[in-house]
Amino acid sequence: MTAIVVLGSTNMDLVTYVARAPKLGETVTGREFRTIPGGKGANQAVAAARAGGDVAMVGAVGADEFGEQLRHTLVASGVDTDLLRTAEGPSGTAHIVVDDEGGNSIVVIPAANGTVTCLGPGDETLIAAADSLLLQLELPLSAVLAGAEAGRRHGVRTVLTPAPAQPLPPELLAAVDLLVPNEHEAAMLTGVADPRAAADALLRQVPEVVITLGAAGSLYTARGMEPVTVPAPRVTAVDTTGAGDTFVGALTVALGEGRPMPEAMAWASAAASLCVQRPGASTSMPYRTEIEV
Ligand code: ATP
Ligand code: RIB
Repeated sequence: MTAIVVLGSTNMDLVTYVARAPKLGETVTGREFRTIPGGKGANQAVAAARAGGDVAMVGAVGADEFGEQLRHTLVASGVDTDLLRTAEGPSGTAHIVVDDEGGNSIVVIPAANGTVTCLGPGDETLIAAADSLLLQLELPLSAVLAGAEAGRRHGVRTVLTPAPAQPLPPELLAAVDLLVPNEHEAAMLTGVADPRAAADALLRQVPEVVITLGAAGSLYTARGMEPVTVPAPRVTAVDTTGAGDTFVGALTVALGEGRPMPEAMAWASAAASLCVQRPGASTSMPYRTEIEV
């Protein structure tokens, strides 16, 4: 089994389902409210474990009921939480509005995630023993950078999802092997709207890039090669929350098993297409037996 460490966030998602998201200053009546375990880090950990990876999660939950539920969700999916800290105070929350098109808007309150400013005791040893390290940007940048540098020191494949989008220090990108932005994040990082051109620009800073393109699939490029586009299965999306995280989790498992990138992308797309057909983040992530190409 491929060994994966996720250094990232845990959030309880507070999800409102509504026909159309309210504009600023407007009040609308929603249809339903659910609390669903999420957070980009925890989502990637759950997705990778369900896809067949041997996964450990590093980060923090709060000392509250949400924290207990978040930890339980990880454990129930087979994720090792021995180094997941319990911080004083509340757990992270994500306040999500999902509309009838399946699109979402999200406000994240980091809370416990904000206490993870550096690696803790044992974290680097765990990373050193892994095949891959998954990073996102919902922890303080100092911790993400420390993780990436530890990954680089120990020759671990380091995969960064640059979300939520923000400008990145060159030293972080210098420690990343594979960058997986969505098309908006790629445009934000490069100032270039066209995904192929954005991927080209990103290759100046990282050796490999996969840009996810929503229903249009994903685009892969590496230094010295022509970009390859892999389509996504045609499905009806009801809630895309966690699609990118499912893609990255499954992609990392497939790459860890030695599959070539385009084959790994097709498998990851199959996993993500299952995720978008079901509501919620962790609740919608498929198990390996469900993922078919
Ligand atoms: P999110 O923020 O909603 O979790 P994202 O913006 O990070 O997702 P996307 O590019 O929207 O990432 O989607 C990631 C992957 O999920 C896509 O590459 C694709 O494989 C799959 N996917 C997303 N939306 C759809 C859809 N409507 N139909 C089929 N597959 C989809
Ligand atoms: O990527 C989806 C995740 O982003 C949600 O689960 C939410 O917690 C936000 O952090």
